[in-house]
Formats: sequence, C-alpha cells, structure tokens
Amino acid sequence: MKRLLTALTVLISFTSFAQRSEVLLEKNWKFHRGDVENAQAVVYDDASWQNVTVPHDWAIYGPFSRDNDLQYKAVFENGEEKATWKTGRTGGLPYEGVGWYRTTFNASKTGRTTLIFDGAMSEAHVYVNGQEVIFWPYGYSSFHVDVTDRLTADGKDNVLAVRLENRPSSSRWYPGAGLYRNVHVLSTGDTYVPVWGTQITTPHVKDDFASVSLKVKVENAGDRLLTYSTVIYGSDGVEVASGMRDVKYLTGRPIEQTFIVENPRLWSPETPALYLARTTLKDGDTVLDVYDTRFGIRTVEFIPEKGFYLNGKPRKFQGVCNHHDLGPLGAAINVAALRHQLTLLKDMGCDAIRTTHNMPDPNLVRLCDEMGFMMMVEPFDEWDVAKCENGYHRWFNAESDVKGMTWAERDMLSMLHQWRNNPSVVLWSVGNEVPSQKSPDGYKVVHFLQDICHREDPTRICTSGINYTSAASSNGFADALDIPGLNYHTDGYFKMKTATHGNCIIGSETASTVSSRGVYSLDTSLKFHLIDDNQCSSYDVEACAWSNIPDPDFALCEDYPWMVGQFVWTGFDYLGEPSPYDTDAWPNHSSMFGIIDLAFIPKDRFWLYRSQWNKTDHTLHVLPHWNWKVGQNIPVYVYTDYPSAELFVNGISQGRQTKAVAVEPTDGDKKSRETMKRFRLMWEDVKYVPGEIRVVAYDANGYPKMEKTVKTAGKPHHIELQTYRTSLAADGKDLAYVTASVVDEYGNLCPLDGRLLTFSVEGAGSYRASANGDPTCLDIFHEPQMHAFGGKLTVIVQAGESAGDVVLTVKAKGLKSATLTLPVE
Ligand code: GAL
Repeated sequence: MKRLLTALTVLISFTSFAQRSEVLLEKNWKFHRGDVENAQAVVYDDASWQNVTVPHDWAIYGPFSRDNDLQYKAVFENGEEKATWKTGRTGGLPYEGVGWYRTTFNASKTGRTTLIFDGAMSEAHVYVNGQEVIFWPYGYSSFHVDVTDRLTADGKDNVLAVRLENRPSSSRWYPGAGLYRNVHVLSTGDTYVPVWGTQITTPHVKDDFASVSLKVKVENAGDRLLTYSTVIYGSDGVEVASGMRDVKYLTGRPIEQTFIVENPRLWSPETPALYLARTTLKDGDTVLDVYDTRFGIRTVEFIPEKGFYLNGKPRKFQGVCNHHDLGPLGAAINVAALRHQLTLLKDMGCDAIRTTHNMPDPNLVRLCDEMGFMMMVEPFDEWDVAKCENGYHRWFNAESDVKGMTWAERDMLSMLHQWRNNPSVVLWSVGNEVPSQKSPDGYKVVHFLQDICHREDPTRICTSGINYTSAASSNGFADALDIPGLNYHTDGYFKMKTATHGNCIIGSETASTVSSRGVYSLDTSLKFHLIDDNQCSSYDVEACAWSNIPDPDFALCEDYPWMVGQFVWTGFDYLGEPSPYDTDAWPNHSSMFGIIDLAFIPKDRFWLYRSQWNKTDHTLHVLPHWNWKVGQNIPVYVYTDYPSAELFVNGISQGRQTKAVAVEPTDGDKKSRETMKRFRLMWEDVKYVPGEIRVVAYDANGYPKMEKTVKTAGKPHHIELQTYRTSLAADGKDLAYVTASVVDEYGNLCPLDGRLLTFSVEGAGSYRASANGDPTCLDIFHEPQMHAFGGKLTVIVQAGESAGDVVLTVKAKGLKSATLTLPVE
C-alpha cells in the first residue's frame, strides 16, 4: 500500500526528527549602531543596546537625508562623462557604517550544530562564544558554518555576535543594512546530510514517466555500511516512488539513487506541481538523519531560431526584474510581503522574476516554486572591474576562506548548491552590465563563471545582461554565453542574433519606463517632461535615454520566436536610483521604474502589461483621472486586451479606436508611436468637461464586452479602506496591506489629494509601516502618519501572536475617519 504524507508536511522542506531540527533566531537580539571594542566577548554589557528582532534593517528607520551616501561622480553606465552631485542614489537612508548584533542560543549537547545565515549586509564577522567562526563579505550570499567545536560544554547560552559593515559607495541601489534575512540554528546527528547536501535532476521527462536522479552527500560517514532509503511523494502527499541502497561511504562522493515517477505532474507557472524526496539515512536500525529535498519535474529548452520551450511548449518570459527591498519594510525579509508582491504580479500575468542583481532570499525562491514563477537568478552586478568604488570587485578575485578559491567561486557555489533543486529556477545570469563586456578578455570571465555553473548544475544554461551591444557582439563576450541577454537597445536584437550565430536572445532587462502613480503631464510626446515637482508622467511615454517605453518590447516578443521574452525593469519601485531625477534633485530618493509603486499600489502601466500578459482574464483600464480645468484638452488612453473600444464623455461618443495590426515585423524602433498603436487605444484630444468618461470595449466581432467609468470627484469627504486579506495568521509576522483612499461623498477617488493621514492599530496586531509611492516624500515609513499621494497610500498592519481582532483606524483633518477590522487566527 502506498504511504501517505499530509500535504502540509510535504510543503515543509526540513521537518523535525530526533536527529535534525532547525530553529530561527528571531527574538531577543541586541543591536548597536557603530563600532565598539570587544563586542564579541562572552562577558559584555549590552544592556544599553537596542532590542530588535531579526530580520532587521537598521537603515530603514531613517531619517532620509541628502547627505546619506552623497556622491560626486559620473555614472558611466548611464552614459555620463562629467561628475555631478548624486543624491538619493541609494535611497537617502543611513545604511553606511558598522553595526553589531548579539544574542544567545541553545544547542544540543550531542551531534553537530550549524549556523545558517540567509544573508547579512555586509562583510559579516560571526563570533560564537568570543571566537570568530566565519567571515563572509558578500551581503547577498547565504552561508553556513559548523560551530559545534565552539559551543559551551552543556550546549546552553552560547553567545552569538555579528559585526557588519557597509562601506560608502558600495551599491547602486538601497542595499539595506544588518541581519536583514533569517538566521537559523540547525542541529543534526554526528553523521548527517550537510546544508544543501542533495542534488536532484530529472534526466528523462515525458508524459508517461520521468526518471529522477538524487545525489546525497553525507558528513562523517566513515567507512560504515549505511542504508539510504528515499521515498518520493507528490504534492498530495501520496508516495509515487521509492528506493533503497546500502553503501559504504568510503570516498566522500555523493551516493546516487534513481527513481521512476509514472505519469508525472509537470511543474509550470500555471501548474506548480511539487514533489518531495525524503531520504532516511540508517546505520543498521539506527536512524542517523532524515533529509527532505523538494523538487519539480519539468523540461526547459532554448532552441536557436525557435525560442524557449517549457515542457515542450513554446512560450515567452513575461517577467519582471526586482530589487530585494520591500519598500517601507526596507530589506528586512517578510514572507507575507513577498507573497503579496507575487500575488499582484500573478494577477498581471507575470510568470517570471529576475533577481537583480543578487541572490534572492530563500523564501522568495520557495514561493516562486509554490506559486508558479520562473526565475532567472543572478548573483552579481560587478565582477572584477568596479562600478562602485567599494563594490563587489574588491572580493571577486580575492582568496576566500577556502584556500585557492576566490570569493567569486565561493559565492557562486553558495548560490548554485542552494537553488539547483528548485524547479522555479530555469536559468542563471552570471552578471549584469559588467564593464568587462567591453574588454577583449571579458569572455574569459564568462567562461570562468559559466563553467562553474555547468560543472555544479549541468541542467541549466547561463546568460548575462549586456548593454554594450556593439562591443559585446564583436569581442566574443555575447557569443561566449549560452544565451545572450540584452538590456534595452531594442534595435540591437538583430545584431546580437547575428553575432551569436542565430542564438535565441533574452530581454534580460526591458523598458525602464518611468512614471509616478496618478501624475499626468498632458504633453504625451515620447520624451521626458521633467517638471518642477520632480515627478514623471503616467501616460507611460517617458523612458531613460538608454531605454524605452513598453511597446517595442511587446512587438519584438510578438514578432520573433527567437526573442524569448522579457524581464521588465522593474516590477516594483525600489529605494534608490531615482532616475531621471538622479543628479542633485533631492528629495527624490526612490525609483520610478516600477510597474507597481513603492507602496505596492499598481500604476497605470500595470494594466498595459496585464492587457498583454494575463491570458485568463480580460482587462479594461482607462486613464487619466477626470478632475481637470474646464476646456483643457486631455489625452485619454485605454489599456485592454480587446481589439477596440469607444470612448464617451458624459454620454457623447468621442469615436471608436481599434488597435493597429502590424503590417511588417518591428525593427525595434524604440520611439515609434506606430508601435504604440498596436498595444494601446489613444484619444489624444478630449475636451474636458466635468462629469464622467466611459469606455466600452468590443470583441473582434464587434460585440460590447466590458465597460469602465471614471468620474469627476467632488469635495474630499471620507476615507475608504480596502485589503485583499480576510484574516491574518497569529504568527507575529503576517501582514495586511491596506489601501487608504480619500474619496468624495459618492466614493470617487479624489485624485489630487495629498493630505496627512494618521493611523492607530489596536487589538491583536500592530502598526508596521506605511508608504505612499511618492518618490519625493520624506515621511518616515514606521511613523503612524503619512501624506496621501494621488489620493491614496498603504498602511501595513502586522499580526500579533495571539488570536483576536486587529483594528486599524485612519483619520485625517476634514474627513470622516475609517476603521477596518481583521480577525487574527
Ligand atoms: C540598467 C541596470 C539596472 C538599472 C537600470 C535603470 O542599465 O542594469 O540596474 O540601473 O539600468 O534603467
């Protein structure tokens, strides 16, 4: 009879057994900002230090300042030749400097104890009971260290101290600061499967069966005869295969087992089916360890000229690039925030994420496995040549703690060993816009990094984001890659394809369109309309000098099978890089590239992508708002998957527009209004009169299918609160993102309102942070007040650890306040 695991157990990758347990060190940390002597010592008075929980980002609490990471330089990647003052480049937050953390932990008296850091920003020196146990410079890498020999005699009250340092000019965006990801204590028996100690592949995948190969490493096996038995479960908990081997672990090589899974459920973004391989390691009847490996069964192919195939079916990446910060939470990782991001992206029809330009948090990869997102995981923004004075180039070729191994290789191994079993990860990107792409020797570094990938993970190919198309196409850099990635330069795809002998090309970074939610410049010509309020227009016609609006990328994807899809810069706004206000334009301090703003509120562009990408639901969106001066000529744009629509102002038709059909494939021209007509419906001159605009969408047969109305808002009257959550988990971490809108007496959004709202949270939760998506706003995220932007903002409410109701109240001068109650269970 087949054995059954509960679905819940299957979703947990490490389960507690007598031999193996894992705890997170979250509470009872002490934190000190600045360097101090001897803070690693066992006896040290840290009573005056701040009490914090980890994950913790010391810089997100601000305050914002023009002087934080003020730089005088030319950003060569942006084509600048002359140095200018750069403000807000990394978010205008105090991330620089040294920070110390201290806590204590208990370990088992027997067996082995390993500390795992999912990431620590940065240059982490880790001490256990006063002794340094590891140094790890790169803030985005996960690392682990066996600390058994440093523990107290009874295993109790071990003092863990961590010193972190962020140097100035070490990043091009907000890196966050501190222990911003989880810290784990792993306890195992003396003979155990080490961290990331398995490798699973599926050499043969067909509808009727898949072969599965599992390699398992074991520490301290000696020359005993050990038994490895593995059972494979489907995500419904039903056993689908099993096998057993008795092996003498003499050589230290991994033990290999192979299995057949009949009628496998294939992993894809639409069907994220997961399997679990549970390996039990025994010496006679004694269980030494039980190790879970979660995996998926799927095939990935990039076929020259033909394109990208997942499970034998052609598709295009509908992806976004994302930095790691979570807006108002900073870099401090939170699973509910990540899940919220992915839920929004899923609704847009997005199916892929590029983790720019660094290794992701493990929770993001786990969620992508579960929710169905393909991942391009990318470790570096710099190799051996600097982009930032104190960037990663300082470590790239430096010898790591492993003799003869550079940090570049050590960091790559950490990434590859950690993620090579995850079905969501479909390819590696070995770097982003590295200056070496222009050097005659750059291809050698590609080989160095790519060979590490191929050696450690023969199942995936590599790309790298290229922005110097001509140089990289002629010096062998692009050709050295398994598949070249192109950042922008839509007119460079053909050149790149020729230079790489007909290879597929991936849009590793596309668009970089800039906009501020709810802000409209009535000049819709395709250029920047730098305006004195330091915002960008939401007509989605503004892009940086090196980049483009979304439409040429849609056209390239539609027209050429070898253009395997795109990763838009970016899904979400992020802290730092406030282009085009990236010189001395303080107070701008966050990006405007996002399809969704820093408060996790979609901008208009969300519906443009949704109209192209979401294949299971229809889209109809009309912009701008309808509060103008009488007589003004207002452009009205409609984003829909339907081919045509008719616009009415107060019931009077303004005519019907139909999307253009391409007469010939695009030439990649990034300035073409003709290309826009393939993807948007536009009425450029609509005379404003108060009242309403209504748009009716028609299908290909001319039948009306959907309609949408935007009304002129009257006087601000009350606050409306909305959240997609109906309850929160009582885990002390779950979050509800609540949108607060200023509306008139009929509930119409007052789109120009920017008044101060104040928040209070009572009951079974607390106020966590708020944000409004305004890249110029200096309100501090963790204070319980914030100005509305475009009439809206987001309040984040955090669940407590006990059940009950959590009640949020939002107030503002001159408005009826609002209350929202959520059960915490
Ligand atoms: C790219 C770069 C990204 C970001 C973007 C802004 O060149 O890879 O990190 O800077 O430009 O458009």
